Amino acid sequence: MKIAIDGPAGAGKSTVARRVARELGILYIDTGAMYRALTWKALQLKINLSAPEELHQLAADTVIDIRDHGDGTRIYCDGREVTSEIRSPEVSRMVSVLAADDKVREVMVEKQRAIASRNDVVMDGRDITHCVLPDAEYKFYLTASLDVRTRRRGQELENQGYEVDLEQLKREIMERDQLDMSRKVGPLKITPDAVVIDTSDIDCESAVQYVLDIVREG
Ligand code: DC
Repeated sequence: MKIAIDGPAGAGKSTVARRVARELGILYIDTGAMYRALTWKALQLKINLSAPEELHQLAADTVIDIRDHGDGTRIYCDGREVTSEIRSPEVSRMVSVLAADDKVREVMVEKQRAIASRNDVVMDGRDITHCVLPDAEYKFYLTASLDVRTRRRGQELENQGYEVDLEQLKREIMERDQLDMSRKVGPLKITPDAVVIDTSDIDCESAVQYVLDIVREG
């Protein structure tokens, strides 16, 4: 079974996808975390994000691993756990730049398809419904108003101990949306066969139930 979920930052995708996967007893793959892990490594190595050859080499040479330890998913970059590092504001600011590179996307999409070919998955991201898993049995597009998405991301960051300026965060989310929707390869978009769920006025638990009802009805 393949369940594809796309949507912008802060729409509740990972919370919903993780819960749906757990309920169904299948694997959850957070593809945003894969782009984040690569960005984290690029920043560590001070790689110039606007130098395509360096980025392509980096994408080809990096081993990104997603493991479910029962208490939540952990992300590994070349064997080192980077689960919390990849949520830093610095990585968040730079990840859309790296994710706009077509060669980088090619490598990542290949890795994501390879995982999906071996497992039943709930996979979330920006291009899952139309590029990574166009044949997924179930497709969803999660969205929410910019204010709600900013508040959610702000809360997540505060929970991790970061100080948050909500106005600045809102601007950064808008910029990221813009980059994600306007890139040539794998842009964020709603496919005609995706069920759109607006989580502005409902909690994530209701969205989880809605998705599960659709999947269980088959
Ligand atoms: O979902 P997220 O905020 O963790 O995603 C981080 C970035 O990665 C986001 O700006 C867009 C990019 N991304 C992408 O381009 N394609 C995906 N399938 C997933 C994420």
